[in-house]
Amino acid sequence: MLRLNRLTLTDFRGYTALTWRPVARISVLFGPNGSGKTNLLEALSLLVPGRGLRGARNADLPRQGGPGGWAVNARLHTQDGETSIGTGADPEADRRVFRLDGAAPRNQADIARLVAAVWLTPQMDRLFQEGLAGRRRFLDRLVWALEPGHAREMASHDTAVGSRNRLLAEGRQDRAWLAGLEDAIARHAVAASAARLSLATRLNAHIQTAAGAFPAARIDLACPIAERLATEPALAVEDWLRAGLEANRARDAAAGTSALGAHRTDMWLTDVTTGTPAALASTGQQKALLIGVILAHSGLIASARGFAPLLLLDEPAVHLDADRRAALWSVLTSLPAQTIVTGTDADIFLPLAGQAEAFATGGGALHPDGRFIRPEAEATPVPAAR
Ligand SMILES: Nc1ncnc2c1ncn2[C@@H]1O[C@H](COP(=O)(O)OP(=O)(O)OP(=O)(O)O)[C@@H](O)[C@H]1O
Ligand SMILES: [Mg+2]
Repeated sequence: MLRLNRLTLTDFRGYTALTWRPVARISVLFGPNGSGKTNLLEALSLLVPGRGLRGARNADLPRQGGPGGWAVNARLHTQDGETSIGTGADPEADRRVFRLDGAAPRNQADIARLVAAVWLTPQMDRLFQEGLAGRRRFLDRLVWALEPGHAREMASHDTAVGSRNRLLAEGRQDRAWLAGLEDAIARHAVAASAARLSLATRLNAHIQTAAGAFPAARIDLACPIAERLATEPALAVEDWLRAGLEANRARDAAAGTSALGAHRTDMWLTDVTTGTPAALASTGQQKALLIGVILAHSGLIASARGFAPLLLLDEPAVHLDADRRAALWSVLTSLPAQTIVTGTDADIFLPLAGQAEAFATGGGALHPDGRFIRPEAEATPVPAAR
């Protein structure tokens, strides 16, 4: 089980000093625009390696007008027992660092092993209207939450692609160097594509069995590498990719980009029941499809890793009709995951009143709402043991 018992924010975005002890499994954060709802979810999303739910730059995280540093500290119940995980600015460099029980972890995988988080953000409402970069990021996040090594694979791949682009742009015919980079691209692209393919296959199987209030979505990859991996051994696909990269050098040099590689992958969702592709679905239908994917993903992590990830839902009710909203609240109450859900208006959350705590956000603080579970009285205490 994964539970957040205490969260402390120090000079993080609009929060000067916040200590929050969630008691109920579901927490509602509501408040007007700019009151700090997304900032708090973002802080939680930074408890796992990566750039968090906004993909923010480190420079944007310290509170403006503050002393310069920032920190997010959490006391969690993890599979290793009570654990504290902290993250914050590295005073020496433009990067963030982690602390695990007060000490520097050996590597980020030590953190990723203990915490997982999945999120839904209002930006995802545009996933099917905008370019493939957003969909690829979405897909890679899904993979990453299950296979933490995927991030490193993609980073190495992108570095090799960038180096090859530069070499080609400079017009240098350094064959040995180019061949070395193309070999690296081929290996990382095949490993990354295999991980994406495996995620899509597992998630599709899970969505079929998860059958709930939200439409079952099927994920399809638009990716020649993944297509080949479905029928050919990985080594053969690497050879094909290496040969293709070599043959494309002149064309890639002229285009300034690489036509082959894992960065070219696109991803599509289809409503399995109606056969409607997400791009043709209505705004609310798209949102419902995405919620279905996020919930199934959370369930897949729970079954694969033995604990449900933190579920961070930023304004999930926007675009949903009353029936779908009711369905969402009912799904949330039946999940094992600790869930933090936001919205501008407390009233839409009232059906959750007996099962959730609720807090009004604003002024860098959280103000408990008495219509929901009161922490001191009715809440079920979080079990201390595993
Ligand atoms: N580094 C920072 N320092 C201080 N304030 C910041 C920083 N970064 C963002 N903010 C401010 O924090 C405020 C709260 O932002 P947040 O995105 O959490 O609001 P929200 O409650 O989610 O609003 P909405 O309903 O519009 O989504 C914003 O006014 C934003 O300008
Ligand atoms: Mg927000």
